[in-house]
Amino acid sequence: MRSYPRSAQILTHNKRYIPGGIASVNRAVEPEIVFTNGRGAYIEDADGNSYIDYHAAFAPHLLGHNDPRVNEAVTRVLKDGASLYGSGTTELEGRLAELMCAAVPFIEGVQLLNTGSEATYQAIRVARAATGRDHIIVMQGGYNGWHNDVACNLMTPLETLGPRVSPGEYPYVPISAGIPEAHKQLVHAVNFNDPDSVEYVCRKYPVAGLIAEPILQNIGIVHPSPGYLQKLRDLSREYGFVLIFDEVKTGFRHAPGGYSTLAGVTPDLAVYGKALANGYPMAAIGGSAELMRYFVHPDASRRVLLAGTYNAHPVPTAAAIATLERLLENDGEAYRRLETLGSRLEAGLRKMLENVPGSTTFVRQGSAFCLYFMDHAPVDWHDIAANHDFARDAAMRRELIEAGVYFFPLAVKQGSISLAHTEADIDHTLEMWGRVLAPEAAQVQARSY
Ligand SMILES: Cc1ncc(COP(=O)(O)O)c(C=O)c1O
Repeated sequence: MRSYPRSAQILTHNKRYIPGGIASVNRAVEPEIVFTNGRGAYIEDADGNSYIDYHAAFAPHLLGHNDPRVNEAVTRVLKDGASLYGSGTTELEGRLAELMCAAVPFIEGVQLLNTGSEATYQAIRVARAATGRDHIIVMQGGYNGWHNDVACNLMTPLETLGPRVSPGEYPYVPISAGIPEAHKQLVHAVNFNDPDSVEYVCRKYPVAGLIAEPILQNIGIVHPSPGYLQKLRDLSREYGFVLIFDEVKTGFRHAPGGYSTLAGVTPDLAVYGKALANGYPMAAIGGSAELMRYFVHPDASRRVLLAGTYNAHPVPTAAAIATLERLLENDGEAYRRLETLGSRLEAGLRKMLENVPGSTTFVRQGSAFCLYFMDHAPVDWHDIAANHDFARDAAMRRELIEAGVYFFPLAVKQGSISLAHTEADIDHTLEMWGRVLAPEAAQVQARSY
C-alpha cells in the first residue's frame, strides 16, 4: 500500500487556515494526496510517488503538464514586462480572439473571462437580455459551473430523482446551499437526449435559453444520440430560446471548433475554458455578432455587464495563444495524435474486457473516455444512476491509484489523455488496468464491497 505521510502533514497544516484544508472543495477526495509537481503526462506527490495522470486537473491539460511552449510563452510575457493595466485593450487579447474566431467557424466575436463558470453565467445573461425572458433549461447530469442558475441536478441520487420523467422536468436539486427559492423556479432540469422534455418545458414557461454540454462529460462520456443536438437547434428556433453549448470541456479537446463542429450543429452561443489555455485560468464566450453585441449594446438598459479585473490577464492570455497555436499547427496533427493514443487505449482495453466478469462498457470521444460498469453506453444521468456499479468503479479507481495510474477517485469521472502521453504510457496503463480488472482481482474486489 502506498502511504502519504507528508501529504497528511501538509493537509493537517492547511486545515488550520483553510476550512477543510483544500482551496476547492470538489478536490477533497480519498486518498488524500498532495501533489507537488506535474511534467508532461506525469504528476508526483509530496511523498515522492509518481503517477501517469488521466485526471488532468478536471481536463485542461491537453498538451500535458508544464508544456514547454506554454511555459516559454508565459515566461516571455513576464520578461517583456507585460502587466495588467485595466484600461483599454492589448495586442495579446486581440491575437487570442483572432485565433479563436479562426478556429471556431461560427463565432463572430469572443469575450475573454477567467473561468468556465463566469462564461456560462454571462451566456445565460445574454440569453435573458436578448429574449426578455427569465427561464432556462439545464441538463440533469450536466455541469455548467457553480452559480445559482446551474448549481443543480448533477449526480442527483436516484432516491431524490425518482422514476424517469419524460416528457417532463425534474425538480431543481441544488448542489449548493444559499440559492434563493425564487431563483430555483426559473431553472428546469430535463434528461439529456430527451427533446420531448425540452418541448414540454417550452410550452409551460417562457424560456430564455437552454444550456447543455454537447457531450455530458461530467458524468463520464454521454454522447448525444443521432439528431439530438440538431433537434435542440430546431426547438430553439421554434420556441425562440437561445441555444448555448457549454464547450468548457469539449471545446478544443475534440476539435479546434469544439464538438459543435464535429456534430455539425451551430449554437447561438458557446462557452470555452479548460483546454483553451492548457491549465491557465482562461475562459471565453463566443457566438453570433447579433448576440455578442449585447455586451456593447448602444442602449445601456439592454447592455450586459461584462467586467472583470483579471479578464485577459497577460499570463493566461499568452498561455492560451501558445496552446491554440500548438493545437492549430500542421493541419490538425494534434487531434490525429490524440485519436491514435485514444484508440490504442480503447483497443487494448476492449480486448481485456472480454475476460472481465460483469457488465462493462467503454465510451470514448477522442482523448476523453470512461469505463462504465453497466451493459450499455448510458444515454443520460438517470440511466447511469440506475444501472452503473458505483462501488466497483470506486474500487477500480482506488486500485489504479495504488498502481501509479491517477484516475480521479470519484465514480464516472472522465479520463483525459494529453499530447504528452506516449504509446509506452498507454501500454503501461493497460497493463496496470488489466491487473486491476483481471477476473481474480475483480473477485477480490467484489468480496471486499
Ligand atoms: C462543462 C463545464 N462547464 C463549466 C464548468 C465550470 O468551469 P470553472 O470550473 O472553470 O468555473 C466546468 C468545470 O468543470 C465544466 O466541466
